[in-house]
Amino acid sequence: MKTQVVIVGAGPAGLLLSEILHRHGVESIVLERSSREHVLARIRAGVLESTTVDVLRENGLSTRMDVEGHPHDGMRIAWAGRDSFLVDTYQTLGRRFMVYGQTAIQEDLFAAADRRGQAVLTEVSDVLLHQHDGAPGAKPYVTYVRDGQAGRIDCDFIAGCDGFHGVSRRSIPEAVRREYEKVYPFGWLGVMARVKPLPDITYVNNPRGFALASYRNQQLSRFYIQVPLDHKVEDWPDDRFWPELKARFPAEMAAAITETDTIEKSIAPLRSFVSEPMRYGALFLCGDAAHIVPPTGAKGLNLAVSDVYYLSKALARWYRSGDAVWLDGYSATALRRVWSSVRTSWYLTTLLHRFPDTSEFDQKAQEYELDYLKHSARAQAALAEQYAGLALEKAD
Ligand code: FAD
Ligand code: PHB
Repeated sequence: MKTQVVIVGAGPAGLLLSEILHRHGVESIVLERSSREHVLARIRAGVLESTTVDVLRENGLSTRMDVEGHPHDGMRIAWAGRDSFLVDTYQTLGRRFMVYGQTAIQEDLFAAADRRGQAVLTEVSDVLLHQHDGAPGAKPYVTYVRDGQAGRIDCDFIAGCDGFHGVSRRSIPEAVRREYEKVYPFGWLGVMARVKPLPDITYVNNPRGFALASYRNQQLSRFYIQVPLDHKVEDWPDDRFWPELKARFPAEMAAAITETDTIEKSIAPLRSFVSEPMRYGALFLCGDAAHIVPPTGAKGLNLAVSDVYYLSKALARWYRSGDAVWLDGYSATALRRVWSSVRTSWYLTTLLHRFPDTSEFDQKAQEYELDYLKHSARAQAALAEQYAGLALEKAD
């Protein structure tokens, strides 16, 4: 087979890239390791920055989001079981964010791919990248195995959208790659439950640990609590989870949470990770393949979308005019936004969690930072700007 761009991974980054490229008349084939059912069953992100909403709207992907998504003016921070304040992104910036689950975005992206007859090859294994180093005369291609048959796709470019554990980043030689990593000493237990949500997305710093109340719709809440790294889902039956969750929220908020059977539970470790550069020859990395952020800032999916925005513009320009200037600038442009969100996610993680080995000094500093944020409109405005997400650098 032959195409212009081979996209490895059918997560939000890969499918969105194929959609935008199609709109610019650029052909692609998507290769996905898992089944479509498996990809659609993953429960992950919930908060979309206004820039992400704009990109989805501009590309005809917002019909359902505009009906079922919930625009929000701000997020709430509570701590020490008493104080809370709203970081109001609408009042400070005139920008709302949207609560709309990644699972729904995946469904919308698969539906759009079906409508345009996009080639998405699922359940492929042994994906390998070849001649992608950009050497003179190199002709990139990708090999894979599907249904026991070996396949090969020749292409101009490869987009590595295959997440943190994918093959693409590892196809950049170690001597070229520079990796920056911070692993946090805890994870998040995520729980979905048919419970009426709290009025605001609420992040809690409590001596017992971090907690978060978010939601998917007016009947479906999504909760997270900080748990030690060695904990397993089985350690958290419902009769342990609910009292622990409620103990971390201020009493009046806890009283508003009804206990019911939970629908899904999973545990995710928290890490910050960036691999530079995001381009190597004909290979371009997008999304979790190049960077991971702890979910505290709700940035991961949004960064995948901004990477795809920059790469799709750059590829469209190259195919339109043969001008490689944006392709050459892709890594530096994408990384500016990546590092900004990496910093915000690290800051919020540090501000809102209890670290096992924290000193009394660090604990006091954390509490007084929260107190400062509560009382300073300027500090809240700075946080609102980071939470709502920086504007995209306009490529044209
Ligand atoms: P992925 O979604 O990981 O997709 C990569 C795809 O590549 C997968 O389908 C995988 O099967 C496939 N693949 C992997 N290896 C191969 C291979 N060798 N060959 C072929 N295919 C391969 N982000 C936010 O913005 N807001 C939030 O509120 C938020 N909350 C989160 C909560 C949790 C609990 C977690 C875990 C994450 C959260 N995130 C959030 C992060 C967000 O979910 C990710 O950043 C996002 O999924 C990245 O998309 P992606 O397409 O880059 O990668
Ligand atoms: C979610 O709704 O899943 C969610 C919300 C905010 C976060 C992370 C996850 O920071």
